[in-house]
Amino acid sequence: MPVGSYLVICVQVLQSSFKNAPASLRQTRTKRRSRSLSTSSTDSYSSGSYSSSSEDDGLSPREKSQTNSKGFSDFCVSNINQAAFGRREIEIAEQEMPGLVLLRKRAENDKPLKGAKIIGCTHITAQLAVLIETLGALGGSVRWSACNIHSTQNEVAAALAEAGFPIFAWRGESEEDFWWCIEKCIMADGWQPNMILDDGGDATHVLLKKWPDTFKLIKGIVEESITGVHRLYQLSKTGKLTVPAMNVNDSVTKIKFDNLYCCRESILDALKRTTDIMFGGKQVIVCGYGEVGKGCCAALRGLGAVIYVSEVDPICALQACMDGFRVVTLESVIRNVDIVITATGNKNVVNRAHLDRLKNGCIICNMGHSNTEIDVNSLRTPELTWEKVRRQVDHIIWPDGKRIILLAEGRLVNLSCSTVPSFVLSITATTQALALIELFNAPAGRYKQDVYLLPKKLDEYVATLHLPNFDAHLTELSDDQARYLGINKAGPFKPNYYR
Ligand SMILES: NC(=O)c1ccc[n+]([C@@H]2O[C@H](COP(=O)([O-])OP(=O)(O)OC[C@H]3O[C@@H](n4cnc5c(N)ncnc54)[C@H](O)[C@@H]3O)[C@@H](O)[C@H]2O)c1
Repeated sequence: MPVGSYLVICVQVLQSSFKNAPASLRQTRTKRRSRSLSTSSTDSYSSGSYSSSSEDDGLSPREKSQTNSKGFSDFCVSNINQAAFGRREIEIAEQEMPGLVLLRKRAENDKPLKGAKIIGCTHITAQLAVLIETLGALGGSVRWSACNIHSTQNEVAAALAEAGFPIFAWRGESEEDFWWCIEKCIMADGWQPNMILDDGGDATHVLLKKWPDTFKLIKGIVEESITGVHRLYQLSKTGKLTVPAMNVNDSVTKIKFDNLYCCRESILDALKRTTDIMFGGKQVIVCGYGEVGKGCCAALRGLGAVIYVSEVDPICALQACMDGFRVVTLESVIRNVDIVITATGNKNVVNRAHLDRLKNGCIICNMGHSNTEIDVNSLRTPELTWEKVRRQVDHIIWPDGKRIILLAEGRLVNLSCSTVPSFVLSITATTQALALIELFNAPAGRYKQDVYLLPKKLDEYVATLHLPNFDAHLTELSDDQARYLGINKAGPFKPNYYR
């Protein structure tokens, strides 16, 4: 949609509600065995936790008849008996998800999601469980499946089923299971969905394709991943998007925190867990100095690595220079570096010619969304030997004996080889919850059949909810200062185009 009309809508949003968010929340009441079929299901990264902790008794969950301790059986999980373990995982996650828990406390009396029937299709992790339970506490009724066949924490799914949530997910689903689970969420006796919370666009896709009439009744879609957002924009372009959708992937709180801070913390974790490497004095090249690249560089510098950056954008390159990093071409340092990290969102950034020139023992990994940043396929040639040395660690051996260390076969290394901090997921989950509340309660006409960004005021509210955790105290603008800056004292403090 044209930027102009988007701004107009945002202004209307801000004028009509969310003078301050708690008040508006009150107002709402008064008035990856084989890959999944879907690319998004395997590439989606935003909220995955890949810690392996689940037991497998050999039977497909679909063959089992299970009930929880209260006789509830509208779920399909690996093993309901793991619920107690899963509950502890959820409690641990809650400790690090203060903003989401605060939202729950502030809004649970008002039940801003009363009447919302939400289909969820995301990674099923302890952090996601905190979101599901928050949506429930705010009045929503949910049915949930996994957006990735490898990422479900089985014990967490069991804990949710034990708590009475219809969950259809287990680690190691087949492709057929994957779609069956989504359909079980959509099709339920006496339950018609009116909201979607998606991560990759699969639930949206299935509902639109198989139940177009039900799709038309949806009040809003909240989409988390780049791939899903891309699909939504395509639907919008071709006139097939008949409901409003919120792109939370591009909200400021997501980009700043998930991309920058989360990657800053998890890159070291992933490299250490897989290789036990010591970073001091190591030469590292980070390809791409966007938010993710900045996070990686900051973390590596902290441990004394010598860092090079490659960039195509002169502004980001200049930022890297100002931050004290050497901006070089990959070709110029490829023979000497100990670690190569891609973080561009682009493809074939590291190609076979680069890989041939790497020195013996070089570690190579990717932090970008898709597994095409490193041309891994080019390494699948007869003269090279692949040796799996650990989970997610392959040695690729050249005929002369040189070996390089490839992590996670070029997929997102932090999500494949480490866990993601719950605090960051609290920010993302709070953003998702607020987007659902906003779309569900928006008066007719505020949102049309299009893809929207979260209003800046709500982005700011997500951050506000997380500040008490740090005992942080905001400075309040005086009336005079607010007039001088031309903004409302209560925000938004930045224009909508601020990213
Ligand atoms: N691993 C994670 O947890 C995680 C989290 C968030 C985002 N991501 C993904 O990481 C990728 C980067 O995200 P971002 O927010 O930093 O994006 P960004 O657009 O801010 O940064 C990417 C940078 O790469 C540069 N670039 C593009 N092609 C290049 C090339 N051939 N060589 C060198 N530089 C190049 C661009 O100029 C840009 O500055 C995206 O794919 C994103 O989806 C990963």
